[in-house]
Amino acid sequence: MRKKVAIIGAGNVGATVAQLVVMEGLADVVLYDIVEGMPQGKALDMYEATPLWGVDVKVVGTNDLSEIRDSHIVVITAGAARKPGMSRDDLLQTNAKVVASVSKVLPELCPDAIVIVVTNPMDVMAQLCWQITGFPHKRVMGMGGVLDSARFRSFVADRLGVSVQDTEALVLGGHGDQMVPMPRFTTVRGVSITELLSKKEIDALIERTRYGGAEIVSLLKTGSAYYAPAASTLQMLKAVLLDEKRLLPAAAYLDGEYGIKGLFIGVPVVLGAEGVERVVELQLTEEEKGFFEGSVKAVRGLVEKLKSFVVF
Ligand code: NAI
Ligand code: 2OP
Repeated sequence: MRKKVAIIGAGNVGATVAQLVVMEGLADVVLYDIVEGMPQGKALDMYEATPLWGVDVKVVGTNDLSEIRDSHIVVITAGAARKPGMSRDDLLQTNAKVVASVSKVLPELCPDAIVIVVTNPMDVMAQLCWQITGFPHKRVMGMGGVLDSARFRSFVADRLGVSVQDTEALVLGGHGDQMVPMPRFTTVRGVSITELLSKKEIDALIERTRYGGAEIVSLLKTGSAYYAPAASTLQMLKAVLLDEKRLLPAAAYLDGEYGIKGLFIGVPVVLGAEGVERVVELQLTEEEKGFFEGSVKAVRGLVEKLKSFVVF
C-alpha cells in the first residue's frame, strides 16, 4: 500500500510541497486548508497533471480534517506568513492558535505519524506541536536548517563560482535572525570555506543567509519564500518516507545534548523512518558556542512568551 502524506495548509509552501511529493510519485497526498474549495481545486489540478508526470498517486484536497486519518507523515504549513517589516517571531500568537488546533486532533487521527512543522516561528511551533500531541519527541521535527543551509550553499557557490552540488553548508540554532551559520562545516568538496574566503567575505555571506528570508519577503511584498522552503521540506520528508538516514539540520528536541534540555532547536540529526533517529553532537568552539547559546536564548524567550497565551 502506498504511504499517505497529509499537508496542512494549502498556501504557497503547502501546495508546493504537495506538488513536489506528487511529481516524484512518493505518496498519496491529502491537502487540507480552511479556505473553501481552494485545496480541492489545487489538488484536482495536480491530479490532472499526474498522467503527464507519469506517476500513479492520488492527491485530494479537503476542508475536512478527518480526511488526513492514518497519514504516515503530517506536514504543518498552516498559518500566516510574514509581510515586509515583520520578523518570523511576530507570527507567534496568530500561528500558535493554528498549530495548536491542528496538533490537538493528531493523536486521534494519525497516532503513528511523524510530523514536520514548517509554520513560523518554527522551532517554537515544533515545541508546541510536541507538547500538544504528546508524541515521542523523535516523531516531531521542524524544518528550517535545511533551508538556511541551502541558502548559505547557494550564496557560497555563487561567490566562489563553483557548483552548488559541490558545496555543503551547515546552519545550526533557531530558524530566526539569531541562526548560526557554521563556516567551519561549510565546504566545497571537503575544503572548508575558511580556506577559500576571507573572514570579511564569509561574514557577508553569513549576514545574507541570516536575512535570506527577509530578502525574499522584501521582494515579494505579499508573502514569504516558498520554492526553497518546499524543496527543503521535501528533502526531510523523503528522508523519513524512504528511511534514508540523512544527516540534516532540523529543529529537534534536545534532552541534554549541547547542554540543552527540553527545547526544540536546530541541530544536525539523522532522519529515517522513525523520525529523528539520532541527534549528532558537534564539539563547538567557544565562539560557536556563544552564537548557539544566543540562538537558544532567543528561542527560549519565545517559548516563555507563548506560555503566556497558550496552555502547554
Ligand atoms: P500562505 O499564506 O501562502 O499559506 C498559509 C495557508 O494556511 C493559507 O492557505 C491559510 O488559509 C492556511 N490556514 C490558516 N489557518 C489554517 C488552519 N487553521 N488550518 C488549515 N489551514 C490554515 O503562507 P506560506 O507562504 O505557505 O507559509 C506558511 C507558513 O510557513 C508561514 O507561517 C511561514 O512563515 C512559514 N514558513 C516557514 C519556513 C521555514 O523555513 N520554517 C519557510 C517558509 C515559510
Ligand atoms: C523563510 O526563511 C519565511 O521562514 C521563512 O523564508
